[in-house]
Amino acid sequence: MSVAAAPAWLDEERLDESAPVVRVRQGLDATRQARPQPSAQLVDSFGRVHRDLRVSVTDRCPLRCAYCVPLDDPRPLPRRDLMTAGEIVKAVRVAVELGVTRVRLTGGEPLQRPDLPDIVAGIAALPSPPQIALTTCGIGLDRLARRLARAGLGRVNVSLDTVDRDRFKLITGRDRLADALAGIDAACAAGLRPVKLNAVLLPGGNEDDALSLVEFALARGCELRFIEYMPLGGRRPWRRDQLVTADAVLDRLRARYRLTPLPGRGHSPAARWLVDGGPGVVGVIAAVTHPFCGDCDRLRLTADGQLRSCLFGNVEHDLLGPLRRGADDAELADVLRGSVWAKPPGHGIDQPGFHPPSRPMSAIGG
Ligand code: 5AD
Repeated sequence: MSVAAAPAWLDEERLDESAPVVRVRQGLDATRQARPQPSAQLVDSFGRVHRDLRVSVTDRCPLRCAYCVPLDDPRPLPRRDLMTAGEIVKAVRVAVELGVTRVRLTGGEPLQRPDLPDIVAGIAALPSPPQIALTTCGIGLDRLARRLARAGLGRVNVSLDTVDRDRFKLITGRDRLADALAGIDAACAAGLRPVKLNAVLLPGGNEDDALSLVEFALARGCELRFIEYMPLGGRRPWRRDQLVTADAVLDRLRARYRLTPLPGRGHSPAARWLVDGGPGVVGVIAAVTHPFCGDCDRLRLTADGQLRSCLFGNVEHDLLGPLRRGADDAELADVLRGSVWAKPPGHGIDQPGFHPPSRPMSAIGG
């Protein structure tokens, strides 16, 4: 019996599926469609393909950073609501099967989880494992860096807003600069390259630490990135006019260094510059003043198993429920695809009706 040729309408369907290659920078709204495409990848309704998954493994943190932890210091999630290591690895496996190639473990402070090396090892043991990165405040990394590297961790970003002990205490609420610095040294020694340092500058706080941070980073071969203060928690209500903008930081740096822009930014949130001809590099993450939502390929999973396709959004898709009900891979993949499909075109910080997300950064993960 001969197999009948596929009817023409099916061909058209196929064309429809492969066609949503929408140029995201222009006319995002014009091409918006109402339902997820049954795609093998994580594609949103504007055609952005998602390859980067950030998993918060805990909302606990030893620091109380002024720009991150709200004044009313939220109670940590009950332990039973945190994804287990097995649940995290399963969620990552399904995401990897849908095209995710980079996984970043964040918090809160991910080193607070005693089973972090097991999570890393579980992800590293997946067929076609993703690149694995960690965002940490560095405290405790001196003891763990080698073990994590052996488990399969590739690289690490350490938050460091100042190299001055008193300022560190003022910003983070804790006298732990020495521990953070020991963590950075251990990460370098364990070969977790590149070690990147993240600094948030606050006006009248650590604004003038920019140059000493660059000196510190250059001396260690670390890449320093300045992140604009975003409306995501913090002790005070966020105000746009209380922002040290990326442009202001660059002006400050240009007073001492020659900065040459590096091409090839791709999906990276950071715009990067060679310092004095290299090899040192600094970056700025201008999420507020120069948003990069059109190139965003990031999806986030909170420590309690909620998917967020936008750091600033208020929509979450529950993955923990299906994981705990024993949902099969196809159902988990549907939840992942649904979350990505619902991603808004941009964070909308500058839109009149913008409301910061109800969860602070400490509970979402960077
Ligand atoms: N704005 C900008 N960056 C923040 N971080 C935490 N809260 C904020 C905020 N409100 C940074 C941390 C960490 C990274 C993941 O996010 O310093 O390095």
